[in-house]
Amino acid sequence: MLMDFLLLCCAFLLGAAAYNDTHIGAAASTITHLHFYMDDFYTGPNPTALRVVSGRSLSPDNSTTTTSPRQFGDIVVLNDPLTEGPDRGSARVGKAQGFAVRTSEGGVVSDLHLHLFLEAGEYNGSSVAVNGRIDMDTEVRESVIVGGTGRFRFARGYMLSRNYQYDLTNGGVVELNVYVQH
Ligand SMILES: *[C@@H]1O[C@H](CO)[C@@H](O)[C@H](O)[C@H]1NC(C)=O
Ligand SMILES: *[C@@H]1O[C@H](CO)[C@@H](O)[C@H](O)[C@H]1NC(C)=O
Ligand SMILES: *[C@@H]1O[C@H](CO)[C@@H](O)[C@H](O)[C@H]1NC(C)=O
Repeated sequence: MLMDFLLLCCAFLLGAAAYNDTHIGAAASTITHLHFYMDDFYTGPNPTALRVVSGRSLSPDNSTTTTSPRQFGDIVVLNDPLTEGPDRGSARVGKAQGFAVRTSEGGVVSDLHLHLFLEAGEYNGSSVAVNGRIDMDTEVRESVIVGGTGRFRFARGYMLSRNYQYDLTNGGVVELNVYVQH
């Protein structure tokens, strides 16, 4: 069952079959689809993320202060479990470790830097590095896979994240779909 979260969606050959370019030594390349949920809780008995720097309103007189629990300049550190299903008790398949800086007034947009480190299945021990501009007002946020380790060496791709059950004050559960070419 634990393997179910790894959906090998499609694999195809790039290079050799498509064109003859001996210069780049075109190797077989695979696209792997990973699907899991990220527990990103700032409050409650077992928080997984922590605000380590509190930002503030962009305007000196606070005239544009929003009611958002997030502020421009907040820095948060994440050590978020990745689970097969959306429930907190669901099988753990890895962890998302990194940080985010709130880069908009009201802190609704973040610059995100994460490593998704897998701890189960055929990619146990491998990781991908993710950079993203996360706008929480957007239903589906797209981030960039900028590299990887282990089985994901030379990785590139993209990640789609969507709130499963989430609010700006407490955090919650985010659904992740990762498409990695490696
Ligand atoms: C690809 O190009 C190399 C170098 O020109 C040539 O030796 C080889 O036969 C070519 N392979 C194919 C499958 O066309
Ligand atoms: C604006 O808000 C910050 C943070 O709450 C506070 O330290 C500062 O004194 C406020 N400035 C004014 C002019 O009210
Ligand atoms: C993942 O790999 C680690 C280190 O090799 C191992 O201890 C662990 O049992 C593996 N986990 C699973 C679920 O296979």
